[in-house]
Amino acid sequence: MTDAQLPLQVRGLTVSYGASPAVFSADMRVEPGAMTAIIGPNGAGKSTLLKAVLGIVPALSGQVTVYGKPLDKQRSRIAYVPQRASVDWDFPTRVIDVVQMGLYRQLGLLRRITGRHRSLAMDCLDQVGMADFADRQIGQLSGGQQQRVFLARSLAQGADLYLLDEPFAGVDAATEKAIIDVLKSLKDEGRTILAVHHDLSTVPDYFDRVYIINKSPVAEGPVAEAFTQDALQRAYGGRLASGLLDQLFPVAEAAPAPGFPARTA
Ligand SMILES: Nc1ncnc2c1ncn2[C@@H]1O[C@H](COP(=O)(O)OP(=O)(O)OP(=O)(O)O)[C@@H](O)[C@H]1O
Ligand SMILES: [Mg+2]
Repeated sequence: MTDAQLPLQVRGLTVSYGASPAVFSADMRVEPGAMTAIIGPNGAGKSTLLKAVLGIVPALSGQVTVYGKPLDKQRSRIAYVPQRASVDWDFPTRVIDVVQMGLYRQLGLLRRITGRHRSLAMDCLDQVGMADFADRQIGQLSGGQQQRVFLARSLAQGADLYLLDEPFAGVDAATEKAIIDVLKSLKDEGRTILAVHHDLSTVPDYFDRVYIINKSPVAEGPVAEAFTQDALQRAYGGRLASGLLDQLFPVAEAAPAPGFPARTA
């Protein structure tokens, strides 16, 4: 694969808000056309990693390339849906306007929104099941509904690489299903998804690859190889419920240790 085909490559990224780094020496390689989960405990630097990739927070050191080029040349190929709590919608904006904001990068700020753009934005709202709310003020939606609208805005952008920070946080089961269906259909179109994800029990179902971090990277690769009990324990320490580990990694029927005769009852 050439660099130009690699959606995102991060090398030696270190980010610090104060004395100690929030992300330390992170390397990351995001494969095209796959869904990758970023997992790790609260405060592990997951959101910081995404923000540093996007240049929203400055990095102390490191390199980020998007499809083989510096971010500045590739911004239009990335869509970003921030962690929900970080967005405060006090000013009055309609849902449809928020989605149409996703179109501005293609349109240029000065071009007028036409009927065609409105119908494109409506299509995106329809995909996330929010078409009926198009004229509602964004501040008057529930958190889960807002989350769907932000996803619709990122769909309107028509990006190649989607960065989502906890797209399923605080949404009900039906919304989670709606969002995962949208993400899977983006993937089917060959787009690349990188999402911070908290629910370890759905990782194997939803994602192809994982990136496990606790300030420094812990493991990276296909779910079958990198999403291991050992890696999770290293990242989460004692913070993982043992019931969850048992559920994720059911103990196989204990095989007799080599060199010892099998015990007979
Ligand atoms: N703007 C900021 N100023 C100072 N410290 C910050 C800032 N944002 C995050 N931090 C700190 O950096 C560390 C990493 O935060 P970050 O938000 O990246 O974690 P996270 O892995 O996304 O956690 P969560 O699962 O809770 O969303 C934390 O210790 C946090 O307190
Ligand atoms: Mg976060």
